[in-house]
Amino acid sequence: MNKERIVKVAVVGAGFVGSTTAYTLMVSGLVSEIVLIDINKEKALGEVMDMNHGMPFVRPVDMYNGDYKDCTGADIVILTAGANQKPGETRIDLVKKNTEIFKGIIEQILKYNTDCIILVVTNPVDILTYVTYKLSGFPKNRIIGSGTVLDTSRFRYLIGQKVDIDPRNVHAYIIGEHGDTEVPTWSLANIAGIPIDKYCQSLERCLDEAAREEIFQNVKNAAYHIIDKKGATYYAVALAVRRIVEAIVRNENSILTVSSLIEGHYGINNIALSLPSLVNRQGIINVLDVPISDKELMLLSKSAGALKEAAATLGF
Ligand code: LAC
Repeated sequence: MNKERIVKVAVVGAGFVGSTTAYTLMVSGLVSEIVLIDINKEKALGEVMDMNHGMPFVRPVDMYNGDYKDCTGADIVILTAGANQKPGETRIDLVKKNTEIFKGIIEQILKYNTDCIILVVTNPVDILTYVTYKLSGFPKNRIIGSGTVLDTSRFRYLIGQKVDIDPRNVHAYIIGEHGDTEVPTWSLANIAGIPIDKYCQSLERCLDEAAREEIFQNVKNAAYHIIDKKGATYYAVALAVRRIVEAIVRNENSILTVSSLIEGHYGINNIALSLPSLVNRQGIINVLDVPISDKELMLLSKSAGALKEAAATLGF
């Protein structure tokens, strides 16, 4: 009987996002070994103990806390460590602090594993994806940022609420920065191939400019609203990470708006941002040139410009 391949994931950072990601992967049945790494070893141990006590309720996972040497043999190393947004802080405000933290993390990972896929979640995720690409020397297909996978999910959820459709059947993307300059691709949004505005007309539902803008503002500002209420976001981003891990470990060739180094698409070069991309066991194997509108192209170029401006201060 062919033994299921051991899939090992290392999660760096045992904060809200890292521990929720480890938990979500544990209950997913997708991976067989998870090591949780944090500078605060007691915190990582506490999280692991708490999760292990639930192991009899799920498919067994070898879940433990460790340090960078335990990245050895990991298929995917997920980076969630770093400072997170405080109320009123933008993701870009974190760039210098988290870039310094990443320099130490990447140096440690490279000592033990140069064959893995690195999945960056820490914000500002696009810039840190770019920084990780530069620091690691890995081929760009093996450096993935969670990017706007979460924003696309929020977009699909809110549209689905508007038209009473399962969000899994709402086809719409958020592209560009995972942040204040992100771009809603309304021109591509559809339900079963029916353009979203035609679908809404057929329901005599209104999706005029005001309704679209309300949906987009709620997507773009979701994290600020949630952070103001509960201090951090972690459930949806952990599920977004789970979805990316699933596409990798199951070699699915899935289309996800992950963040990666862009070289030439839409005239954009030498920065990481999110575009619909093909994800499988090799990482990101293709970035799609989806037919966005002229307005969306203009906004995407602005988003790339904002990210380049923020990254320029880092000297890469
Ligand atoms: C958010 C964080 C993950 O958008 O940036 O919730």
